[in-house]
Amino acid sequence: MVSVRLLLLSVALLLCGCLGTQGGNVLVFPGEYSHWLNMRVILEELVERNHSVTVLVSTASPSINFSRPESFGFKVYDVPFEKQDWQALNEDFIKWWLNESQNASMLQLGLWIRDLLQKMNVLTVNMCKSMFNNEELLESLRQSKFDALLSDPMFPCSDLIADALDLPLIFSLRFSFGMVIERQCAQVPAPSSYVPSPELPYTDKMSFFERVHNFVTYTFCDVFMNVHLLTTMDTLYSEIKGSPTRFCELMGKADIWLIRTYWDIEYPRPFLPNFKFVGGLHCKPAKPLSEDMEEFVQSSGDDGIVVFSLGSMVKNLTTERGNTVATALGRIPQKVLWRYSGEKPETLAPNTRVYEWIPQNDLLGHPKTKAFITHGGTNGLYEAIYHGVPMVGIPLFADQSVNVMHMKTKGAAVVMDFNKMTSDDLTEGLNSVINDPSYKENMMRLSSLHHDQPMKPLDTAVFWIEFVMRNKGAKHLRVESHNLTWYQYHCLDVTAALLSVVALFIIVSVKTCTFCFRKSKARQKTE
Ligand SMILES: *[C@@H]1O[C@H](CO)[C@@H](O)[C@H](O)[C@H]1NC(C)=O
Ligand SMILES: *[C@@H]1O[C@H](CO)[C@@H](O)[C@H](O)[C@H]1NC(C)=O
Ligand SMILES: *[C@@H]1O[C@H](CO)[C@@H](O)[C@H](O)[C@H]1NC(C)=O
Ligand SMILES: *[C@@H]1O[C@H](CO)[C@@H](O)[C@H](O)[C@H]1NC(C)=O
Ligand SMILES: *[C@@H]1O[C@H](CO)[C@@H](O)[C@H](O)[C@H]1NC(C)=O
Ligand SMILES: *[C@@H]1O[C@H](CO)[C@@H](O)[C@H](O)[C@H]1NC(C)=O
Repeated sequence: MVSVRLLLLSVALLLCGCLGTQGGNVLVFPGEYSHWLNMRVILEELVERNHSVTVLVSTASPSINFSRPESFGFKVYDVPFEKQDWQALNEDFIKWWLNESQNASMLQLGLWIRDLLQKMNVLTVNMCKSMFNNEELLESLRQSKFDALLSDPMFPCSDLIADALDLPLIFSLRFSFGMVIERQCAQVPAPSSYVPSPELPYTDKMSFFERVHNFVTYTFCDVFMNVHLLTTMDTLYSEIKGSPTRFCELMGKADIWLIRTYWDIEYPRPFLPNFKFVGGLHCKPAKPLSEDMEEFVQSSGDDGIVVFSLGSMVKNLTTERGNTVATALGRIPQKVLWRYSGEKPETLAPNTRVYEWIPQNDLLGHPKTKAFITHGGTNGLYEAIYHGVPMVGIPLFADQSVNVMHMKTKGAAVVMDFNKMTSDDLTEGLNSVINDPSYKENMMRLSSLHHDQPMKPLDTAVFWIEFVMRNKGAKHLRVESHNLTWYQYHCLDVTAALLSVVALFIIVSVKTCTFCFRKSKARQKTE
């Protein structure tokens, strides 16, 4: 009897022991380029905390190298197109954006963007179908017994996978076009009176006409996205699921939304309990530079250095833009480290060194760094905030213009128009950011706000992923408005009911009064 108990006890202890050190099992559906660089940091931390991580990646991924040894695993699936198809699409886009788009009319721009979206759709729809036509892949995913799916909604269909495998879903994103996904699929309230659309250069304080513009922009984005989603995604989702399914409805089932921003750069606004803010989770203290680079940095003396990068997607510029930029850089006393892999501009001055790749975080954290010239991608922006380096923003596309615009309104950046700026503009911008102490002070203020959080952003992200695994989801944080129709949400049914009661009351009162009035008149007559 006693021995049986002992046996049970030791088995129980053994099980507890196993469970204690055994982490969760996370499936990851990644984005590409800078999105992937950001997500990798979360994955490495999850592995560090003894979770098992598997990244689901297509053979045509343009920026994820699945042959590289990593601490996490890859599950690679076939798609009927090549890595080069993605890359060609991106290169065409960037080339067009940096050159031909300069003289394009609004109509040409619109048509071009529609064309790009259609080409991208062909690839994403194919990606999605390849996964769901691959029984072997689905079966092996089912066998793996995952605890949660972490996804970047840059590509669609991760929600379909979560649904098919019955997994809780965590999204990681910055924001969607016109915040349509957040507003319509996740039910985030965004009053157009004080929440500017990310497509517009406005702050939370808007004049009457800015509010009109904002309202119209939100409406336009809604209509555009609904037409786009209804015609492509809803059909795809219904086809794969085998029953009428709305893209937005499935996305809205996500348990947690990890948003890659924070209240240091965002204007205050309402958010839902399943939205968590993890901007800057990838930032780390600077590591020492290579000997050669450190020597160049030290040679700048008291003037210090300027770090310049337009991100990983823009490799070269047109000859004309390259020379304009190089001329401007040659006029400042600082030394410049420029990440650039195009042809060396003729006007490159001796104070500027061009590198194929730079350790951006380590350079920004270097005490000699005076300014950062950036396209304003979210990752670089947060590295600058983390280390308190004021910026010259040259936004190119996507979220970059809204990012640098926020930095400008916070007094921590000067903004340039890439296609229109002259060498003088850039030199002047650089000189003010470096020599006017207000930029540095404002940046240091943002930096101290960023560091003054109850938990580091990376810990917050990992906490919520673990929370979802421990609690088998976080559906209790989803608002009930997902279940309401639009007229219920806006209380139109309630308003209609109350108005009917009031109307009924008025009609009854009027009728009664006229009846009484007539009666008394009739009595007067008879008297
Ligand atoms: C991970 O597992 C190792 C070995 O089982 C253990 O020593 C370590 O403390 C665990 N780490 C965490 C964060 O649980
Ligand atoms: C991917 O990683 C492997 C292994 O480290 C390396 O040999 C290969 O060159 C890498 N491919 C690219 C495109 O970077
Ligand atoms: C830029 O656009 C012009 C006009 O369309 C074209 O002639 C030129 O070749 C383009 N340059 C590059 C580098 O693509
Ligand atoms: C755009 O227009 C300007 C002025 O007409 C011209 O100098 C420039 O070459 C044009 N750029 C392209 C890419 O066509
Ligand atoms: C960048 O370089 C590629 C190949 O070297 C070339 O095809 C492309 O036109 C260049 N882009 C610009 C904007 O000059
Ligand atoms: C919505 O309705 C469904 C079915 O009645 C229910 O299971 C769910 O908890 C409700 N709430 C939300 C937020 O989806």
